[in-house]
Amino acid sequence: MTETSTPRWLRWPDGPSHPRIGFGADYNPDQWSREVWDEDVRLMRQAGVNIVSLAIFSWARIQPTEDSWDFAWLDEVIDLLHANGIAVDLATATASPPPWLSRRHPEILPVTHRGETLWPGGRQHWRPTSPVFREYALRLVTALAERYAEHPAIAAWHVNNELGCHNVYDYSDDAARAFRGWLRDRYRSLDALNHAWGTAFWSQRYSDWEEILPPRQGAAQSNPTQQLDFTRFSSDALKDYLRAEREILRRITPGIPVTTNFMVMSGTKPMDYASWADEVDFVSNDHYIVPREQSFDELSFSANLTSNIAGGRPWFLMEHSTSAVNWQPVNLPKKPGQMIRDSLTHVAHGADAVCFFQWRQSAAGAEKYHSAMVPHAGEDSAVYRSVTELGRTLEALAPVVGSERKASPVAILFDWDSWWASEQDSHPTEQLRYHQEALDWYSALLALGVRADVVPTGRDLSGYDLVVAPILHVMPESLAQRLIRYVDGGGHLVTTYFSGIVDENDHAWLGGYPGPLRDLLGVRIEEFAPLLPDETVALGTGASGSTWTERVEVRDPATKVLASYASGDHAGWPALTRRAVGPGSATYVSTRLGAAGIRPLLSELLASAGVSSELTRDVAGRVELVIRTDGAEEFWFLINRTTETVRVTGVAGGVVASPNAAADDGSDTVTLEPHGVVVIRRPVSDTRGESTG
Ligand code: GLA
Ligand code: GLA
Repeated sequence: MTETSTPRWLRWPDGPSHPRIGFGADYNPDQWSREVWDEDVRLMRQAGVNIVSLAIFSWARIQPTEDSWDFAWLDEVIDLLHANGIAVDLATATASPPPWLSRRHPEILPVTHRGETLWPGGRQHWRPTSPVFREYALRLVTALAERYAEHPAIAAWHVNNELGCHNVYDYSDDAARAFRGWLRDRYRSLDALNHAWGTAFWSQRYSDWEEILPPRQGAAQSNPTQQLDFTRFSSDALKDYLRAEREILRRITPGIPVTTNFMVMSGTKPMDYASWADEVDFVSNDHYIVPREQSFDELSFSANLTSNIAGGRPWFLMEHSTSAVNWQPVNLPKKPGQMIRDSLTHVAHGADAVCFFQWRQSAAGAEKYHSAMVPHAGEDSAVYRSVTELGRTLEALAPVVGSERKASPVAILFDWDSWWASEQDSHPTEQLRYHQEALDWYSALLALGVRADVVPTGRDLSGYDLVVAPILHVMPESLAQRLIRYVDGGGHLVTTYFSGIVDENDHAWLGGYPGPLRDLLGVRIEEFAPLLPDETVALGTGASGSTWTERVEVRDPATKVLASYASGDHAGWPALTRRAVGPGSATYVSTRLGAAGIRPLLSELLASAGVSSELTRDVAGRVELVIRTDGAEEFWFLINRTTETVRVTGVAGGVVASPNAAADDGSDTVTLEPHGVVVIRRPVSDTRGESTG
């Protein structure tokens, strides 16, 4: 935390003495007439809603013109909610600037890399670095903070909304100025910048800071380090904007915690949320399922990463959907039971609040086909009934509030620099997918029934028995040293193709790949050999590789070949290797194996690292196990990953909740229907990594 060092959670109006899981939605009463509000609070109470996010897109209603303000309606809604025992996560309303502002100051509008100015008429049409936007927005934040400073209903401040959702990359002159300032802070001298950007290449040497621009569309590919720095800068520019709003809120309302909703999910690449977490009192996240293979694993992966971004502390699920969204090519409704299963998976991974976009489905506007807690059909609907069922389930889960995720034996490293740099243009292949590779390892661990933590690269690794570093492409010397020390200390590391290739300036490590990890892995690679989109190669083990291959030369007698290529240009050469280092080891994977291909390799590695499933063999892989603990007891979340009924034995404990499942106190057997979840409380165990079966 920057200003306050103690992490803070919601300030519940009736104090902290009744632990409860936050439950609610974005609430947009300004889209509805006054009579509907009374109906809203009746239905909210009936469903068990205890918090709503208010005024997210209300700027034009609160400040209809530059010189007029209308708080009366907001006063009335907040009072109404408060009278009904519903707390408010009050937005600063700055997400979507009103038409009068963009008309009067078109210089707030973002500019694309081709120099086109984006028009108003949608939302989030503002430049993160615009001083004019900031002046108007901060005036609004100040007005709201002053007006509601003393209102007991306000449980938290919600800064803006999904910072960077539509406007992260802005190439305007404001952005150019701010980018230069950011570069001066980073490099101090032009010589240092010229070196870092490798400007000796293509006659790009800068002799004046004013010559430097964002990577706007040029005649050929932009400088790669310029691109990487612009991505870093764009994430930091939004973070800086977050700080500007937060500083006002902390000054005027020091007693009210501040959050903003992150978007930790596979489709959101531009924001380095690991570096944002300390800027808020508690982390909030939005997550939407995209139907595809591994979609449920992706949900678990994102919730897991969010928890680790939050340092293991409870976090707030600010948005997900009760059923279909409206922004995918085809928008599928959720299946019966799925919404509750999705919600409880977030809770399993540390969410102490479960909220939705949005409370009442809009009748007009771009999101009228997006599901909500109250659908167009109204109260008499399967969606609203499942919402009330979720409300009851969350009430039963009150005992888990405040507990943290129990650390896992395995870590998967997640690194935004590597995500950004490895997928740039001008690379060996366009087919490489950083997030997918990480997710494949996670899916394989789920399939083996082994709990894992998805952790930002900077975190301490010493407690993990096995660390997976997929495509850890950007490898500053210090990171390489940390990994080497981890293995020297007895840790087991596995890393993949295109890891350890460049330093923090995106300069290739020389002398053979993977530069600083060569000795640790005991291998040397001279050339990359990516595969064509539909091409695969066979491995001697029967597995197959796609996307990438290499001629892997073993350079150390302690390095054993685990599998070789059996077809393709490298037939007979090693594909997977493992170097023993004292009691530890360093494993290298030179091709994309996919989740199914990773599984047998992982079981071998887990066995040597002494890690096994905490579930019995027959259910490991069919059930996801997540454990939360408050130190006194543990909460075991058992989540059915399959479309079949699964019976789990050997898990006796007190049943806290069991939607779509059958479980009895004390009995050691639970039955999970498809989408079924059981939460049981048990004494603290030290079973980490020890099989019960
Ligand atoms: C985002 C936004 C919401 C809404 C949802 C729809 O998460 O924050 O305002 O648009 O998407 O899925
Ligand atoms: C052209 C250019 C070279 C180099 C090569 C790369 O031939 O003249 O400078 O960019 O393409 O293939």
